Amino acid sequence: AHRVFDPRVSTGGDRVKYSRIAGTGSYLPDKIVTNHDLEAIMDTNDQWIRERTGIRERRTVIEGETTATLARAACQKAIEAADVDPNEIDLFVMGTTTPDLVFPSTACLLQKQLGLPDCGAMDVNAACSGFMYALSVGDKYIRCGDARKVLVCGAETLSRIVNWNKRETAVLFGDGAGAVVLEASDEPGILSTHIHANGNYVDVLTTNAGISVGWDAVAENDGKPEIMMRGNEVFKVAVRTLGRIVEETLSANDMDKTDLDWLIPHQANLRIIAAMARMLDMNMDHVVVTVDRHGNTSAASVPLALDEAVRDGRIQRGDMLLLEAFGGGFTWGSALIKY
Ligand code: ACO
Repeated sequence: AHRVFDPRVSTGGDRVKYSRIAGTGSYLPDKIVTNHDLEAIMDTNDQWIRERTGIRERRTVIEGETTATLARAACQKAIEAADVDPNEIDLFVMGTTTPDLVFPSTACLLQKQLGLPDCGAMDVNAACSGFMYALSVGDKYIRCGDARKVLVCGAETLSRIVNWNKRETAVLFGDGAGAVVLEASDEPGILSTHIHANGNYVDVLTTNAGISVGWDAVAENDGKPEIMMRGNEVFKVAVRTLGRIVEETLSANDMDKTDLDWLIPHQANLRIIAAMARMLDMNMDHVVVTVDRHGNTSAASVPLALDEAVRDGRIQRGDMLLLEAFGGGFTWGSALIKY
């Protein structure tokens, strides 16, 4: 008999072996800010930005656009690509560190707009690793049998918490959203997800104001909190730590780096991405790069890159994908996926 799935009751229903990506989607705001645009407002230059980061331009929201509006467009595209009825989605997980409001969560703000049923909807905050965290939650819900279809999104408006007078951070970030629909499957699928954190590095990458600590610092940035980062230290730890999680991910699956078809890394800096490719003996043709056009979109960067390479036909069904991200916390995460 046809099993009727009731997402509101945790039944520990039929366990399936895997979740698989049924469809992907992404969305970028229209406004483009080039390095030359930044030269006009701060003491920086196109050459420095390109050589140190690989970034040429980034997208930023304009008035009226928010994390939720970007996420909504990306989720709709993912739902369409997956060809699922939104009413069948059992859980909605959003990775974001720039939610529209303190509450309701961005996922809740969008739940009814997207036509989802009264399913669980939540935001996960793991800074730039937000999508990897959200993906791992969705994957686990499906594998334990409590959900059959999960919408996972990473969306950010980091431009809203950048100090546009500080060249050290302002040139790095951009806005966007990416999403996937996961569904239960007997065939792989997501083979494994891995998430980690180390809270000893708070001072190296953080924001300077917030709900509970207060807003005194925002006077320095037009009434907004701002990203504080010692970029050089982050860089070194990121490369080392991502190297470790890549090994952990491959060995958890008894696989070797030669088994990988595509690396879909977090897009913070082209030099970090190139270091990862070297570590994996991967030619840059097998690494999806968007940082040149998107900048660092935090939790949105991995699903944006994934969607781009799926839609332009580079990533094909059956390909072995390694996704990884590193960000504030520090947090880091990865997933090995047979697409
Ligand atoms: N334009 C021109 N010069 C600049 C700029 C700029 N935008 N920014 C810094 N400089 C100068 C500095 O003042 C410094 O000058 P000095 O030598 O006279 O003191 C010089 O450039 C070198 O600065 P560094 O910070 O040492 O440059 P570095 O090569 O480390 O590059 C960068 C900086 C791009 C930030 C790099 O360290 C990086 O990408 N770090 C990792 C970022 C990251 O991965 N973040 C994680 C995710 S973010 C999140 O979770 C929200």
